[in-house]
Amino acid sequence: MPTSVEIPSDALDPFERFNRAAGKGSVRTPYPRYAELRRKGPLIAASEAAGSRSMSLEGSDTPEAMVAVHFDAVQQILRDSDHFSSALYAHSMGVVMGPTVLQMDPPRHTEVRALLQKAFSKSALRRWEQELVRPIVHGLIDAFIERGRADLVRELTFPFPVNVIAGMMGVPEAHLDTFQRVAVEIISIAFDPAIAMRARQELEDLLAPLLAERRRRPTDDLLGMLAHAEIDGDRLDDEMIYSFCRLLAPAGAETTYRSSSNLIFGLLTHTDQLEALRADRSLMPRAIEEGIRWEVPLTGIMRMCKADTTVCGVPVRAGTPVMINIGSANHDERRWDDPEAFDIRRPVRQHIGFAAGPHTCLGMHLARMETTVVLDAVLDRLPGLRLDPAATDVHISGEMFRAPGELPVLFEA
Ligand code: HEM
Repeated sequence: MPTSVEIPSDALDPFERFNRAAGKGSVRTPYPRYAELRRKGPLIAASEAAGSRSMSLEGSDTPEAMVAVHFDAVQQILRDSDHFSSALYAHSMGVVMGPTVLQMDPPRHTEVRALLQKAFSKSALRRWEQELVRPIVHGLIDAFIERGRADLVRELTFPFPVNVIAGMMGVPEAHLDTFQRVAVEIISIAFDPAIAMRARQELEDLLAPLLAERRRRPTDDLLGMLAHAEIDGDRLDDEMIYSFCRLLAPAGAETTYRSSSNLIFGLLTHTDQLEALRADRSLMPRAIEEGIRWEVPLTGIMRMCKADTTVCGVPVRAGTPVMINIGSANHDERRWDDPEAFDIRRPVRQHIGFAAGPHTCLGMHLARMETTVVLDAVLDRLPGLRLDPAATDVHISGEMFRAPGELPVLFEA
């Protein structure tokens, strides 16, 4: 099992390219704009959200897209798979990933997801924690601990989750750099289709011999489990397995890197809360949920209305694409007092950062466990941790995907 990976000097390049396209630097905080949208209603036309003319195509029967911005509207839509379908991902992420759970509706979705769920069971997580997450996190910290300074994004929060997901799949250490790069490039489909399609093929080439080996001889890693999993007595075919891995690589790498970076940023800029957490680790679960509520890594997802309905009193016609603004829902003042504030002690109320309903994030328990391990390690091993005062203007940015570009810190070596 791999324990750490050497980070090449241009390791952030694919992320850097991706982050720029996703609004890094250009969008520092979308939250005041989201608050304005919430004043207009729970679910509003895309043109109203953009402050422009109607976006319906003239002479077309296709309804204009809508944007869900209140918590209750977002929750209702995500829970209601009778009226709202995920199938439209087939035209975006599905092009590069292939057919995954993300774009399936029940009952097929229920069937496939039940099978994948086993890989994320409590006993599987306990094993990943001991065999992968802890050694990877501590190995990365070992590499910089004597320096008394580090960039926690480049040296810790960026490399650790991608190494974990690679280890779960059984990817050998020699291929970790390639895996790390393609995990990021796959989700570039919206703005760099050629790179995304190349990454699709590269990941398949990397996995093909590993899968063939596991078809012959079962192993107890994720790929070994998928190689022998069955639906109604039929084995999953290779394409189905590659598709799932193409979803898991970025899902596992990208979101956890962002959520753990955002939480560490929140703590470093609210040092009373950092010290409270250091002294009382029972605050950890609340700190993790508050980090995701306050600065969710992925602000928006999509659904398509498939039968006329109403959401929070607003009529929605069949055929309407709906943009689900998770970032706005997580800051809804109807649900949280002072929603813009980062406060790990605020009363617990479920946020919607992991979505809701049948597509609720499959990796949420893994993400929570990974974040607990990395935060505990940082608090235990880096006394006197603080943002480097020489670094000016460290901040979170991005529209769809949010994270700090860097976390330069000092600590007592
Ligand atoms: C803090 C970290 C994470 C956040 C905020 C997050 C967020 C989300 C969201 C919002 C969805 C719903 C997408 C939709 O329905 O359109 C989702 C689905 C999913 N996530 Fe995560 N995720 C995180 C970590 C992970 C990890 C670590 C993994 C796996 C290694 C993972 C695997 C998945 C998968 C497979 C789905 C599809 C589930 C389905 O369609 O049934 N996620 N995630």
